[in-house]
Amino acid sequence: MGSLQLFPPSASAHAADMDWLFAALLGVSAFILLLVFGLMILFCVRYRKGSKVERGNRLGRTWRVEVAWTGLTFAAFLVLYFWGATLYVRIHSPPSDATDIYVVGKQWMWKIEHPGGQREIDTLHVPVNRPVRLVLTSQDVIHDFAIPAFRIRQDAVPGRYETLWFTPTEVGEYRLFCAEFCGTWHARMGGTVVVMEPSDFQRWLDSQDPGPSLAQEGEALFRSYGCSGCHGGASTVHAPKLEGLFGRPVPLEDGRTVIADDRYLRDSILMPKAEIAAGYPPVMPSFAGQIGEDDLLKLVAYIKSLADKTAGSAERPAP
Ligand code: CUA
Repeated sequence: MGSLQLFPPSASAHAADMDWLFAALLGVSAFILLLVFGLMILFCVRYRKGSKVERGNRLGRTWRVEVAWTGLTFAAFLVLYFWGATLYVRIHSPPSDATDIYVVGKQWMWKIEHPGGQREIDTLHVPVNRPVRLVLTSQDVIHDFAIPAFRIRQDAVPGRYETLWFTPTEVGEYRLFCAEFCGTWHARMGGTVVVMEPSDFQRWLDSQDPGPSLAQEGEALFRSYGCSGCHGGASTVHAPKLEGLFGRPVPLEDGRTVIADDRYLRDSILMPKAEIAAGYPPVMPSFAGQIGEDDLLKLVAYIKSLADKTAGSAERPAP
């Protein structure tokens, strides 16, 4: 690890795809660079002052050249664009069996929470060859969660949930960074990703004192913030039921339909008037400024766990 490395190790399922795209971009850029500078030097030498070359017979009709190079560069850029876009979309579309891990950036540390309630700071333990889905947010300013060995990076933006996923393919320890200047100790905001054999990972999970799981803590908050007064099973208030909600389409009052994902749940707690579920009066008060990002994650995890209960959805590894 001590020696100078030009490339970080490649330890995730899409690292190779990323490297190919990077190589292609580098190749195209190098080709254009050599072409432009090659011709420039050639013309400088060939048409230098006093050289005996034919200067009179200018090319008359150049449209072929014009159309050819415009067409070719356009095609080349389209190929690169679609190549990059597909890769981007793939990195942001996790498979359904991925394990959720929550990451909150804050000046100047990464707080990481596993679904079973295990918490770590600036260290991320993951099992090898299992897909992991990260749900990222920030408590203060914009940070950027970057693991070069996995070829992933994503801004952590206050007030938003960003998701990305990866499948680590090599057991080992890798660096993780904050890749967005975020204040005085930005350079120190980093840590280690530890990729372990699944059995070692399970042992690690068990060795941690998990305390209550995210969803259990969320359930307690659900009561203490008064959510259960309207959304609880025994309530007489006409409020949307939360059991089986997560992951389902929700028809809205204005005719649109949205999927009840992390983003929708979070926004509905903070801005309940923005997307009102069809058939319900817009009476829910906003909790903006009252619930911190940590607690929001727990509430969302709790509501998510309600979906698993009724829908009996696919088995999740871990919790
Ligand atoms: Cu956080 Cu830079």
